[in-house]
Amino acid sequence: MPRLHFDEIDSTNAYCKSHADLLEDLSFVSASYQSAGRGRNERNWKANKGENLLFSVLLKNGPMLACGPFFSLVSSVAVSKVLERYGLKPSIKWPNDVYVSGKKIAGILLEGVGSSCLIIGIGINVNQNDFQGEYRVSPTSLSLELRRSVDLSSFREEMFSSLEEELRRCNEKESFLSYYKEHDYLLGKQVRYRGEEWVVQGVDDNFALLLGNGKKTISVISGEISLL
Ligand code: BTN
Repeated sequence: MPRLHFDEIDSTNAYCKSHADLLEDLSFVSASYQSAGRGRNERNWKANKGENLLFSVLLKNGPMLACGPFFSLVSSVAVSKVLERYGLKPSIKWPNDVYVSGKKIAGILLEGVGSSCLIIGIGINVNQNDFQGEYRVSPTSLSLELRRSVDLSSFREEMFSSLEEELRRCNEKESFLSYYKEHDYLLGKQVRYRGEEWVVQGVDDNFALLLGNGKKTISVISGEISLL
């Protein structure tokens, strides 16, 4: 798989987007620092220089893109499996945040380019111990959880291999859903969605979130879910 690493860049997702024509399918682009890291819902993603894993993967392969909404699931499963190998107990907050000890350790941002390319951008807090400023959700990192620092280049290799492997078998929908169900952060929790309160009942076969309020159940395919 082709790889590019930058000491500093605006955003690895932005780079993949602007170079989508030139980059090969399954290119991995990482950076030690992003000056304009992007998060979901127009937020930014802040990460200290040289302490974290920040990367994007460009998918250009048409048939693979048929997996559609499952890329959120596939990516968060790939991240969680590596964290488990480090002795952590990750859970996945639908659709693709990864939590450890009730705090966010990794975020994933999917962006489309035209009709056939998809960028999977992943930020994982690895050796950052100090999180300044305001966070919607308390952050944590591998080093805070493990009380030791982690070799960032080995971690990057493991993460790239894990993601590559999971992407190659992304049509095995059942196994991803069953991993998710065993690591479901939201199950049974009270949440707010579009101003209303709901209880999370799980996900359906298409990875839509099921929300109930005692009167009805709705399925949600995108949108912001906040815990009450
Ligand atoms: C989120 O809001 O939880 C998603 C955060 C995604 C951050 C990663 S860091 C690497 C890639 N490049 C970006 O600009 N964003 C993603």
